[in-house]
Amino acid sequence: MKTQVLAAGEDAFRQAAGLLRAGKLVGIPTETVYGLAADALNPQAVLDIFAAKGRPADNPLIVHICDLAQMEQLANPPALAYELANAFWPGPLTMTLPRKSIVPDCVTASLPTVGIRMPSHPAAAAIIRLSGPLAAPSGNRSGSPSPTNAGDMLADMDGRIPLIVDGGSCGVGVESTVILVQEDRVRLLRPGGVTVDQLRQFCPVEVDDGVLHQLAPDARAASPGMKYRHYAPKASVILVEGSTDAFRDYLVSVQEEGCFALAPEEECSLLPCPAVPLGRKGDDLSQAQALFAALRECDRRGAKTVYARAPHRDGVGLAVYNRLLRAAGFQVVKL
Ligand code: TXA
Ligand code: MG
Repeated sequence: MKTQVLAAGEDAFRQAAGLLRAGKLVGIPTETVYGLAADALNPQAVLDIFAAKGRPADNPLIVHICDLAQMEQLANPPALAYELANAFWPGPLTMTLPRKSIVPDCVTASLPTVGIRMPSHPAAAAIIRLSGPLAAPSGNRSGSPSPTNAGDMLADMDGRIPLIVDGGSCGVGVESTVILVQEDRVRLLRPGGVTVDQLRQFCPVEVDDGVLHQLAPDARAASPGMKYRHYAPKASVILVEGSTDAFRDYLVSVQEEGCFALAPEEECSLLPCPAVPLGRKGDDLSQAQALFAALRECDRRGAKTVYARAPHRDGVGLAVYNRLLRAAGFQVVKL
């Protein structure tokens, strides 16, 4: 199969929606990362997503919608969900809500909840308006860094899907915040573009243990995605916590062949090995935007081991830290 890449626009949206309604898979841009979309109500199309990604069947998909009527078609939302939707949609927040039986089991991995999000990217919104609700995981092969531009998605999906809609680079750069919505509080399952502080303006937020800690092998994950090594380049990643000076001295002591650093752009020239910039120092938004393309860049440049300078965990920084921790398989060096 030849994979076409079409620039976002009416023509591309119509072709994308036609393919989706016919049960095919399409790469779509969102404000977080590119998604691998299929008609959420077509079980065979949804199963094809798992095959194209090489994704374990027990990891549920997020359903993308364009209005609240679609949320009500798919789920039974508590009052708090409407309040959060009003505040954060369209945008990078996924709410897991009690599902209705119309949602195929393969979408939710048979969980009693369905993850729902209304993306703000105009191309995603336009395609959903034409196609209906779309199940879409990130558009990478399972385990790899998520794609934040059409070229990175093509690198993973070339020959596996008929079309990718190119909407440019993603503004947020890390995936949506995933929360379990309860009656009067929420539980954070995955940090993302909407921050804990933003959510706390509306209700209490409990941060699930799986966000910053490795789950015991026999523990039941609140979100199945927590169990897997994720977001990882081919190189091994080690997360390093410490000052700029301590990080540089540590890299001098390491002196390995194929050693790369991932660090804020202001610090790269100070380091004793090849370094790929990870946004600007102390700027969580720019670090999130740069993260996944930077991890892919390390592979392109032949890195064997990537030493990543741990970012601050404030704001969207918590999401950047969480992705690096998983890319590192929880290997952290504290200096
Ligand atoms: O920003 C995003 O969320 C992107 C774009 C494409 O929208 N999508 C994305 O999907 O990151 P994916 O499949 O790569 O990650 C979805 C995460 C997984 O960790 C999955 O386990 C979790 O959300 N999830 C989905 N449905 C869930 C549910 N019902 N209960 C708990 N966790 C759920
Ligand atoms: Mg993913």
